[in-house]
Amino acid sequence: MITNIITHKAEETIKLGERLASILPDGITLALTGDLGAGKTTLVRGIAQGLGIEDVVQSPTFNIMKIYLKGNKPLIHIDAYRLENVNTDIGLDEYIGYETGITVIEWPNYIAKLLPPYLMAVDIRNLGGENRSFTFSGREEVVQKIAL
Ligand SMILES: Nc1ncnc2c1ncn2[C@@H]1O[C@H](COP(=O)(O)OP(=O)(O)OP(=O)(O)O)[C@@H](O)[C@H]1O
Ligand SMILES: [Mg+2]
Repeated sequence: MITNIITHKAEETIKLGERLASILPDGITLALTGDLGAGKTTLVRGIAQGLGIEDVVQSPTFNIMKIYLKGNKPLIHIDAYRLENVNTDIGLDEYIGYETGITVIEWPNYIAKLLPPYLMAVDIRNLGGENRSFTFSGREEVVQKIAL
């Protein structure tokens, strides 16, 4: 099953993220694909808000990973962009699929070997202007709830 949702401005994407926070089960991994500026980090920001995390979610481009522990459940935000062509094991696998939290990965294809098979894929497309398309697949039971 595949669900598609279109947002028409960044605030709508934040709201979508907030809604996801109330739906996503513990231990889930989200693989966010989409071009630069598609809206991956914006969606993560919404998820963080939905979890009651007050810190500002920045693009972790300089950290690669940031863990937020002050919300309803842990949020692990990984941005693998700078790991393209990096073959060194930096121990990221320890944080992916953390049992009691939500793991969100931008540029998952750069750490393909570390991804759990059982993840939800979110493909984001820029439809022009402020319109963005979000396509959810994998994790059938979760995708179903997003469609409702
Ligand atoms: N409907 C929308 N949803 C999300 N962002 C939008 C939307 N409309 C416009 N924007 C703008 O698009 C940009 C999205 O940036 P964001 O950092 O979320 O992208 P990204 O996919 O994480 O990029 P990167 O690959 O560089 O990390 C922001 O400047 C945001 O304000
Ligand atoms: Mg980003």
